[in-house]
Amino acid sequence: MTNGWDESAEAWIRDMGVDGDYSRRHVLDAPMLARVAAGAYGIALDLGCGEGRFCRMLAAAGIRSVGIDPTEALIADAKAKHPGGDYRVGRAESLDFSDRSFDLVVSYMTFVDIADIASAIGEIARVLRPGGTLLIANLNSFNSAGSWVQHKGKHRRFEIDRYLEERASWQSWRGIRIKNWHRPLSTYMTLLLGAGLQLRHFAEPAPSSGDAVTAEQYRRVPYFLIMEWQKPISLPPPAKIERPMRPSSMKTPGSRSAIVPMRTRSMRVDGFASSGRTAW
Ligand SMILES: C[S@@+](CC[C@H](N)C(=O)[O-])C[C@H]1O[C@@H](n2cnc3c(N)ncnc32)[C@H](O)[C@@H]1O
Repeated sequence: MTNGWDESAEAWIRDMGVDGDYSRRHVLDAPMLARVAAGAYGIALDLGCGEGRFCRMLAAAGIRSVGIDPTEALIADAKAKHPGGDYRVGRAESLDFSDRSFDLVVSYMTFVDIADIASAIGEIARVLRPGGTLLIANLNSFNSAGSWVQHKGKHRRFEIDRYLEERASWQSWRGIRIKNWHRPLSTYMTLLLGAGLQLRHFAEPAPSSGDAVTAEQYRRVPYFLIMEWQKPISLPPPAKIERPMRPSSMKTPGSRSAIVPMRTRSMRVDGFASSGRTAW
């Protein structure tokens, strides 16, 4: 089923222009670029790169990148605007890259667009090299649960409702009509922590430029968040739990009872046990 991106690609390209929309130019680009500049990255993956604007910014900062996006028209536009760039059609939920391929993964306003966010975060953790960074800009969950409403005919107020209820909804603006996901912040945090990533930076950026009237709207309500997560260089030493195995006494018709003696085993308790992965 469509999420609206194929149908909205043309309007999106028009809306972004070369420099991006208000949110990107006046709120998000500066802190995102500052985080990039604070690290030392050779190769980056831009997940949901759209028409490739942030990949071009990474290139200007001397960082090689691969941009992936499922929307073919956006990838075609990214290639046209940046012939030397590496842009591929692909989805976050199933990345066509080997383990530990990237120093940096950027998700610039894409988590709200990704239907299967659990698979996407698992894939991000897989393709990051140990010590690598995931840099996220996303719509604040307190925003995606809300909307502006007219209050007593005069003031507009922002109302948040059904915060804990994950849901997709159609959003429309300036000819763009796409499906976005609202998820409570705890959904993202739980998945990122569960993937073994460690939070290094958290910000709710305010406009740093732009016209005052629009900036005021961005200051009134929760809008965006920026997070930086790191994949640990090595896993912490596995905690050993001496856990008694159950003595099992199994009796099947015609067989003698098999008594398995009590013994102990150690198991990992760091969240990676289920994947069977022992180190990155
Ligand atoms: C809001 S745009 C952001 C584009 C770009 N990162 C930017 O900030 O300008 C969201 C992008 O996510 C892409 N997208 C939608 N579903 C996706 C998925 N499952 N995996 C990766 N990208 C996806 C869309 O095609 C779209 O280009």
